[in-house]
Amino acid sequence: MANEPDWVDVGSVEDLARRELQMVVARRTRIALSFRDGRFGAVSGVCNHHGGPLGEGRIDGAGFIECPWHYWKFHHVTGVGAPGYEEDRVPSFALKVEDGRVYVDVASGTPRTKKPHAPHPLARTVVRAEGPVRIVGLSTTIMTRNHPRFSTSELLLEEALRHAAEHGYDTRLIRLRDLRFRACEGFYSKSANACTWPCSITQMDPRDELDRVYEALVHWADVYVIATPIRWGAASSLYFKMVERMNCIQNQETVANRILLRNKAAGFIVTGGQDNVQATVGQMLGFFAELGVQFPQFPYIAHSRGWSAEDMENNVTMVAESEALREGARALVDRCVEMASLMVHGTIPEHAHVRGGRKAHRMGSQMPEVGRQKP
Ligand code: FES
Repeated sequence: MANEPDWVDVGSVEDLARRELQMVVARRTRIALSFRDGRFGAVSGVCNHHGGPLGEGRIDGAGFIECPWHYWKFHHVTGVGAPGYEEDRVPSFALKVEDGRVYVDVASGTPRTKKPHAPHPLARTVVRAEGPVRIVGLSTTIMTRNHPRFSTSELLLEEALRHAAEHGYDTRLIRLRDLRFRACEGFYSKSANACTWPCSITQMDPRDELDRVYEALVHWADVYVIATPIRWGAASSLYFKMVERMNCIQNQETVANRILLRNKAAGFIVTGGQDNVQATVGQMLGFFAELGVQFPQFPYIAHSRGWSAEDMENNVTMVAESEALREGARALVDRCVEMASLMVHGTIPEHAHVRGGRKAHRMGSQMPEVGRQKP
């Protein structure tokens, strides 16, 4: 038997016709209320994908509301998904206009249906596969494609990986400059829940190659050795481009209490012609600590020539010929492996993480005194 109609006055025609799309709340139901070509439409304001606010999106030329979070589309009157995704459908509601007022029948919602979407391979449960300690080396040095030059940080990284491989550990080298990947597009800035795991860009864009980094960091490696040059007192811009895209890993701790990186150890190789080793590595340590990564005692090696040294040719020669730096790189990876082995073999107890292990307090949006005012 059909539900009894439950008409709710959502506002005046004059007010609601001013905007092509807006969010209104009828009783407790969020409605994406549209007005196009002289006609109102009412569909659910909650997106099928991750619950994005459809009423805050925009309507395209074909009459589909584009969700502001990740751009899924639903027709503004029928709620049916865009061509090819018709099985994805958000509820649509009966609507009437009387005496200059707009009414929505909140009891009339059509069923919400979801087209099955295969989960992204990265979304699988994180389970460490048996085997020796696995080490990924990440080089963040930028170089002109097809015109290689000598990289001091990458030389030391390669030495560390070669040494680890010789001792029976699995190694993998990723040069970020070989990957084509988009910069973070700020989904978190729309809403913490709009920043997803796997990364929203990774799920939307099969050409984006940062999935290889995610696969290595989350699923494959026990140890990360990250190498960077010093650029204006900080790590390379490619390092920061990667790190911004790792917001999705950190954000899972915050919004879902889900720790994606368990029993991981990291070490850093930082080289620069002039200075700022400690500031550079300090940022890197702080970031990876936020992700729940552990560090061995003395978690980095570094080299710089100092403030007044502008002789970069000599810097290159010095590193290339330095057995001491190579020895340091080998010792660094040894320390990282020992730290990872302690965790992998269960010597360090697993803790029940409270609020992702990094927030001593609840998120602002979860506190009644600062809860969202918007519907
Ligand atoms: S597209 Fe709507 S929540 Fe992702």
